[in-house]
Amino acid sequence: MDTRIADPGQVLSEAASLLAAGELVAFPTETVYGLGADATNPAAVARIFQIKGRPSENPLIVHVADARGARRWVREFPIIAEVLAEKFWPGPLTLVLPRAVRICPAVAAGLDSVAIRVPAHPAALALLAAVDRPIAAPSANRSGRVSPTTARHVLDEFNGMIPLILDGGPCQVGVESTVLDLTVGKPVILRPGGVTPSMLESALSSAGLPVQLSFAPGDSSSVDKKFKSPGLMERHYAPRTPAYRFRVDQIRRVTNWLQQFDHRSSVVLLRFADCPNSIIVKSVEMLPDDPVACARNLYSMLRRLDHQDHDAILIQMPTQTGDLWAAIADRLMRATKELP
Ligand code: TXA
Ligand code: MG
Repeated sequence: MDTRIADPGQVLSEAASLLAAGELVAFPTETVYGLGADATNPAAVARIFQIKGRPSENPLIVHVADARGARRWVREFPIIAEVLAEKFWPGPLTLVLPRAVRICPAVAAGLDSVAIRVPAHPAALALLAAVDRPIAAPSANRSGRVSPTTARHVLDEFNGMIPLILDGGPCQVGVESTVLDLTVGKPVILRPGGVTPSMLESALSSAGLPVQLSFAPGDSSSVDKKFKSPGLMERHYAPRTPAYRFRVDQIRRVTNWLQQFDHRSSVVLLRFADCPNSIIVKSVEMLPDDPVACARNLYSMLRRLDHQDHDAILIQMPTQTGDLWAAIADRLMRATKELP
């Protein structure tokens, strides 16, 4: 099969027909590129899991054109969902709600819930409106790999396996949506993302719904499995090159670790401005100190370094915390191993 990259404006109705016929189409969103399939078509959904190599217990996000569309695919749309949809849709917020029966159980990995969002990208919205059915779309990468933020990244992952990739340019947010579980008593953030906890809390409190959000424990060592998003436990978002993380207070550990490499080896350092200059490696790349720019560029930097055949990638964790930094730190934790 030939995989075409095309301008969304020129192939919109073709893309919608392909999806309606059960084919997969990759499309841009404001966060990352998605690999789309009709969420009511079990064979199309199965094909997503197959070509991604995705474990069947890891559920997919369903994309719709607007909140009215979302209501059709859930059994309940509580007041909290109303408020958040009004404020953040279209945008990088995914709500987990009770699943309507017409959504394939496989989309939700057999759970009784469904994760749903309205993406803020004109090409995605035009496609969703044209196809007029719910589109399941995970990030358009092989399972466990770095998410794609350009059409070219998607081609690198799935050349020859899908008919069409809509090219909507580089993604503006650059990290995946925030996943918020509304099926439990108190809302739980299952994955930090483009909409930050303080944005959520302030929207809810201005609507007279002062809700305290809790966070799903991010790692598999945690005992409390109840709040975990299936699939969030794995190592994820990882380049092929061995990648290690460090904090600014671990410079001695870094220099010790670097001693194993000789002059023929190549280690690349990905650092922020506040990193001491005492780390000596072959090449150095700077991560932006602005969280919006950092999130936007992170995955393409990781992909680029991964193509350069280094022996290792050494990545500084951001010193700043909170808001969008939480999403960036979360992805870096999953992309890297702790220094031995
Ligand atoms: O920004 C995004 O969300 C991108 C774009 C394409 O929309 N999509 C994305 O999909 O990141 P994916 O499949 O890579 O990640 C979906 C996450 C998974 O970690 C999964 O565990 C969680 O959402 N999820 C999906 N359905 C769920 C459910 N019913 N309950 C709990 N978590 C769910
Ligand atoms: Mg993904």
